[in-house]
Amino acid sequence: MSSSTTPAPLRVGVIGAGRVGAVLAAALRDAGHEVVAAAGESDASRGRIDALLPGTPVRKPSAVARASDLLLLTVPDDMLPNVVTMLAASGALREGQYVAHTSGRHGLAVLGPATALGVRPMALHPAMTFTGTAVDLPRLDGCVFGVTAGDAEREVAARLVADLGGRPMWVPEERRSLYHAGLAHGANHLVTLVSEAMELLSASGADDPAATLRPLLQAALDNALEQGDSALTGPIVRGDVETVRAHLAEVTANAPDTLPSYVALGRATLDRVVTDGRVLPIRAAKIRRVLDAAVAPAALRAPR
Ligand SMILES: NC(=O)c1ccc[n+]([C@@H]2O[C@H](COP(=O)([O-])OP(=O)(O)OC[C@H]3O[C@@H](n4cnc5c(N)ncnc54)[C@H](OP(=O)(O)O)[C@@H]3O)[C@@H](O)[C@H]2O)c1
Repeated sequence: MSSSTTPAPLRVGVIGAGRVGAVLAAALRDAGHEVVAAAGESDASRGRIDALLPGTPVRKPSAVARASDLLLLTVPDDMLPNVVTMLAASGALREGQYVAHTSGRHGLAVLGPATALGVRPMALHPAMTFTGTAVDLPRLDGCVFGVTAGDAEREVAARLVADLGGRPMWVPEERRSLYHAGLAHGANHLVTLVSEAMELLSASGADDPAATLRPLLQAALDNALEQGDSALTGPIVRGDVETVRAHLAEVTANAPDTLPSYVALGRATLDRVVTDGRVLPIRAAKIRRVLDAAVAPAALRAPR
């Protein structure tokens, strides 16, 4: 197997047929590769194989590994070290075989026991959220993949990402967790933030909080992605101390579970607008005192 050319089509095996594995295998099949076997025990995984990879033989992980030129390891992050160790010990891996995982956090080190056998390792992390259904397939079009690969595997990795409809972002091994933290902070915490915002709107009487928020949030997201901090509007960047105080009183009274994140994000927002000079330090100090007081222990808040 040459390091400069990709054999095509590849015989692809997938362990396991979870939200990501079933979808990526289906996309590789659509790109002309052959999905030769899949592993998955649960009803959910079996259902995904039936729906997205009909006719694909369901095998034990070691049999999937033996059958494939490209082995996709799409198991939970914390399972990955054990699965690699088990496969390496089972004799199911062979020199020259491609083994790719889709974890954002892990790089190539986790594939070490396989690499020691001459396997060609890759980390191919789709920067996307998956449902494990056909809905995900068109979302791969233009999706960025955080890729870590050695020089000998870069061309193959880029070709696989292109076959999946995506484009590679090359991530150094030592930056994988930071890369993944950036995605998680943006995408996962956004879900928490939006859910909390919908709860506040519901409490204010909104019948359809999602419909109320959708145009505003879509505009804010587009503006932030294009302009970063300078897209910020609202009471903190305007220095409206009394508006912030009123928000905190209402959140405390109606949605106290949301108060810590409101205050944490208020503080972070304040730091950023002071740094870029849009709020004077004296005004920022007033807002900070109001934010601090909202989460101070009751004894500190009592009038003296
Ligand atoms: N979900 C996302 O949106 C997303 C996005 C980008 C990257 N990723 C990454 O993709 C990987 C898979 O995530 P996922 O969300 O697809 O997970 P998932 O839906 O929970 O699926 C995990 C799959 O792994 C199988 N599995 C679990 N433990 C195993 C073991 N010890 N040995 C063999 N197979 C095992 C499961 O089989 P059973 O069903 O039989 O238990 C299932 O088929 C993770 O590294 C994750 O970080 C996920």
